[in-house]
Parts: sequence; C-alpha cells; structure tokens
Amino acid sequence: MPAVLFVCLGNICRSPMCEAVFAHTVREHGLEDHFTTIDSAGTSAYHIGSTPDERSVETCLANGVPVRHTARQVTKADFANFDYIFCMDRSNLSDLNRMRPKSAKAVVRLFGELDPKGETIIEDPYYGGLDGFQHNFEQSKRCSLAFLKELGL
Ligand code: 4NP
Repeated sequence: MPAVLFVCLGNICRSPMCEAVFAHTVREHGLEDHFTTIDSAGTSAYHIGSTPDERSVETCLANGVPVRHTARQVTKADFANFDYIFCMDRSNLSDLNRMRPKSAKAVVRLFGELDPKGETIIEDPYYGGLDGFQHNFEQSKRCSLAFLKELGL
C-alpha cells in the first residue's frame, strides 16, 4: 500500500491542494484502504506551521473539497517513508533530487507528468489571481485520476 507525498515550494498553495484533491478523489472512489498516508510538504522553510493559503482553501471548497493541513518542510526521512513524492515544477524536482538519499525508496516525479492534457508543470500561483488556483485545481484533479488509473485502481 503506497504512501504519497505532494511537494511544492511553500506547502501553502499547490501541495496542500494536491493532497486534498487526491485524498478526496481516493474517498470518492472508496479506495481509502489502498493508501497508508497522503501528505504534503514544502522544499522551503518559509511557511512552516502555517495553514494553507486562503485562496487554495477557497478554491478547494468552491469545488467541494475540504482542505486541512499545517505546513512543514520536506525531510530526508520522507524519502524512506513515502513511496511516491510528487512535485509541481522543475525547481521542486531539482531541490528534491539534490536532497534525495542514495537509499531512498521514494520515486520522485512531477505530478503533471500524469496529466492526460499534457500540462507538465503545476505553476506557482502565489503572486497571481484566483484563476491560477482554479487552474491548479483542475490539473490536480486530472493528475489524481490518472494516478489511480496508473496504479490500476
Ligand atoms: P506554493 O506557493 O509553493 O504552491 O505553496 C508559494 C507559497 C509561498 C511562496 C512562494 C510560492 N513564497 O515565496 O512565500
């Protein structure tokens, strides 16, 4: 049973949204028993202890998805504790690959690689408007469904 971690820079906008959307998609399909842990973290320490950005919460709620998370930073232990670490952009990917221990169990991938629409990067929405958050939401929904399909669930 896999454990899945979503990672962005601040762990307040994209990764808590992806965590919430993926967990909600798993519940919608009655697949809760197929995952041990679904969590999120940030590569930076900027927002440790913060609740998700209001715009992420608002967007998720407007789409029927509850969000509940406290920001934390990625640790080396995450590479042993998680099977999949999905990140948002190439900067997250290079930061993760740099800190990845040799013995890591986790597969580190861009979540957007799963997007059937081919939008590989889940762009940082922090300095933009609400439309960016809605765009991220739709990407995360498509990728969540594609990941379940990839796992054969
Ligand atoms: P996130 O968005 O990586 O999706 O959580 C950001 C949040 C905060 C900052 C940048 C991106 N920041 O620079 O504080």
